Amino acid sequence: MYDKIAESVKFIKEKISNNPRIGVILGSGLGDLVNVVKNKKYIDYKEIPNFPISTVSGHEGKLVFGDIEGVEVLLMQGRFHYYEGYTMKEVTYPVYVMKMLGIEKIIVTNACGGINKSFAPGTLMLINDFINLFGTNPLIGVNDERLGVRFPDMSEPYKLNLIQKSKEIADRLNIEYKEGVYAGFQGPYYETAAEIRSIGGQGADAVGMSTVPETIAANYLGLEVLGIACITNMATGIQKVKHSHERVVETAKKASVNLCKWVEEIIKEI
Ligand code: HPA
Repeated sequence: MYDKIAESVKFIKEKISNNPRIGVILGSGLGDLVNVVKNKKYIDYKEIPNFPISTVSGHEGKLVFGDIEGVEVLLMQGRFHYYEGYTMKEVTYPVYVMKMLGIEKIIVTNACGGINKSFAPGTLMLINDFINLFGTNPLIGVNDERLGVRFPDMSEPYKLNLIQKSKEIADRLNIEYKEGVYAGFQGPYYETAAEIRSIGGQGADAVGMSTVPETIAANYLGLEVLGIACITNMATGIQKVKHSHERVVETAKKASVNLCKWVEEIIKEI
């Protein structure tokens, strides 16, 4: 895997001279952040050797390099989900590439369902911990010590100083937010009501089908992670209506106005 990552990175570096230290993974319907990036340069995932290709509607498969308020960034427009049939190593491959490109901090965003009843569709939630319900994780297999240790610590998967900074910024910008635990579920079906009761009982405030694999890989690689979830609907059994992907994307798009303002300022200050 190490050589494959190095090959992807070599290809990217031959095309792009930028030197971003901050990476952002954009969730469903949250791609508008790209609009505030200046001096953009794109690379399609399909051009990059060894990169997986994304298949879900609402997800575009591109790396976007550029700057936000003078800070160099790398945005991942479109991510890979376990439910698409990728292996966990493929799902997290871009995080490994980011690390080898010199990224130090990543901001992971997603659209997810709210379990905590104080949330409503449109709520932005700072993720302060995760529960891995995938039944697997990206670190399984022979460990390459060049990348990280065999038994990584996971006591602060989302960096407290980044959470604290984000709260201060949100208060200053008058952006409402909540804070909570994100449970990562395999999907692609929306959970059953019984599953939601169970996950809620385990301490989850929100549930989605991404983010946890990338967070695990990023921590393993020594990257600092900030996670922001957009509650696009209440989880099964809590909301009365049936789920629809279109509504999820629509709600995420509306919430992304505040998310963009927030992330823009976070990027400037971290
Ligand atoms: N469950 C899982 N994933 C999701 C949801 C949900 O309710 N909403 C958006 N992504």
